[in-house]
Amino acid sequence: MAEGRITRGTTGVNRLRRMDRFIAAHSALRRASDPLIVDLGYGAAHWTALELLERARRVRPDARVVGIEIDPERVAAAAPFARDGLTFRRGGFEVPLDGDARAAVIRAANVLRQYEEGEVAAAWALMRSRLASGGLLLEGTCSEVGRVASWVALDPEGPRSLTVALHLGTLDELGGPSVVAERLPKALIHRNVPGEGVHALLRELDAQWARNAPLSTFSPRQRFVAAARGLREAGWPVLGGPERWRLGELTVAWEAVAPHP
Ligand SMILES: C[S@@+](CC[C@H](N)C(=O)[O-])C[C@H]1O[C@@H](n2cnc3c(N)ncnc32)[C@H](O)[C@@H]1O
Repeated sequence: MAEGRITRGTTGVNRLRRMDRFIAAHSALRRASDPLIVDLGYGAAHWTALELLERARRVRPDARVVGIEIDPERVAAAAPFARDGLTFRRGGFEVPLDGDARAAVIRAANVLRQYEEGEVAAAWALMRSRLASGGLLLEGTCSEVGRVASWVALDPEGPRSLTVALHLGTLDELGGPSVVAERLPKALIHRNVPGEGVHALLRELDAQWARNAPLSTFSPRQRFVAAARGLREAGWPVLGGPERWRLGELTVAWEAVAPHP
């Protein structure tokens, strides 16, 4: 039985590029013994699954993507677009794969946002159980055109980090980094309140972005790099370095934002 339920199928060309880029840089794909990727809940069109395949193949020419959808009509609509390395099938959080195959990467984008917060832990656990050793589950959300995104990265044992990824050229127009509050993963979106780690993180990120405003005369990238560095110096467990920050991507260890019980 497919675990979960059919929800709105909204998708868009290139909207998940920030997640694709993160996956393509991740050791779970680069070092996978079998680079099998799942795009779970790809929605009303096959686009994001195809884009994920194309970006993954730049670093792993042997990568394959299986698009899994719980809505059989969306599986039928995507089927004509299957090609070398890209297949589509019906399923849910149980992540059906051939035989005893396990996924190097599972990406579930804009899927859990239409569920209840209380359903997240079980869905994560089921998807995590389908990962290969060293595998990566990316579960998150983005805006319509993908300029604002965030995701939780999990391994087979549990959540490891939260990433926010932002289009820096328009960030001031959008109101600064905390615009991502509207696009947090389901596990955190209701936790942007005083006393919770994610609330403190977004306040500090806004403050660092504002403090480094003079650098925007050079470029918004330099400004964001300085803000990320400032966060780290303030004691936040910021992972990665300037090569990621320049992309408008900031990752912190999960412990810093894990919701209070
Ligand atoms: C908003 S669309 C997201 C499409 C695409 N991932 C994107 O971000 O552009 C969500 C899709 O997830 C599907 N879905 C919801 N729960 C699911 C589950 N448990 N397993 C597989 N697909 C699911 C829905 O049917 C819907 O097509």
